[in-house]
Amino acid sequence: MEYRFALTICVQLMLLWRAQKAAKSSTAVDDGGGWSLYSGYNLDDEGPCSIDVLDSSSLSHRQFLEQYAYTKPVILRGLTDNTKFRLLCSKSNLLEVYGNQRVRLSTANTYSYRKVDVPFQEYVDLLLRPQPLDTLGSDTLYFFGDNNFTEWHTLFDQYRAPSYVLPRTTGAYSFGIAGPGTGVPFHWHGPGYSEVIYGRKRWFLYPPDQDPHFHPNRTTLSWVTEIYPNLMEEEAPLECTIRPGEVLYFPDRWWHATLNLDTSVFISTFLG
Ligand SMILES: *[C@@H]1O[C@H](CO)[C@@H](O)[C@H](O)[C@H]1NC(C)=O
Ligand SMILES: *[C@@H]1O[C@H](CO)[C@@H](O)[C@H](O)[C@H]1NC(C)=O
Repeated sequence: MEYRFALTICVQLMLLWRAQKAAKSSTAVDDGGGWSLYSGYNLDDEGPCSIDVLDSSSLSHRQFLEQYAYTKPVILRGLTDNTKFRLLCSKSNLLEVYGNQRVRLSTANTYSYRKVDVPFQEYVDLLLRPQPLDTLGSDTLYFFGDNNFTEWHTLFDQYRAPSYVLPRTTGAYSFGIAGPGTGVPFHWHGPGYSEVIYGRKRWFLYPPDQDPHFHPNRTTLSWVTEIYPNLMEEEAPLECTIRPGEVLYFPDRWWHATLNLDTSVFISTFLG
């Protein structure tokens, strides 16, 4: 009995020590918020970056409108400071506050056919399992958009949207969390921003007049492994991997596909 008691104390001390060590070594951006980084795939390939990456202090709102807003994507650093929002999006906090609430999932194919409602806790438990490479996008459930702004407003109220807005538009948020290896295949819509709160997200884009070669029901992961390596030079997409603290702007009707390299928490601001 005494032996077991001592062992329990030992284990508790060890856990406490590890927690303290983790707290010391973590920074707001790099700690991952408790979201697992395990994927089961080698997703370390961030690829090249062929999109302009600029510090927002070196590009004024006016220059953004003249040089990018209507012509090409750009990645801006330091445009918003979402340190507080990031803390609220840690795994433990989101599960504590929203674990029992239902979230609406969509299939991760180009035309998002199916919708399923599950408790947030169940989605989090499911998404940490890696999925086989040949799983179809139409069989992959993805939490992005369809957010209930009544239930989640205290969280979204803390999000600082990118300040370089387009004239005569208003922003609408889509919030999501997804496992490594997931992503949405090529599709297009109006202009907007995408920011990762935790994790890295690899982006592929094509201008509106250049239709990408892809199957609407296959995942981005299968596109990256099977089609992307065989593209001719003139068929190469614009691409880059974004990290917390960076926002990617995509202009109106640009084709885009995404691949989450880590478990990612992300939010888009659609400018409609
Ligand atoms: C959002 O949540 C509220 C409060 O739980 C609920 O009454 C409402 O039906 C939900 N809206 C949608 C679109 O699910
Ligand atoms: C994609 O999957 C959906 C749902 O399973 C199906 O209805 C549709 O026909 C498929 N599209 C193609 C092009 O295979």
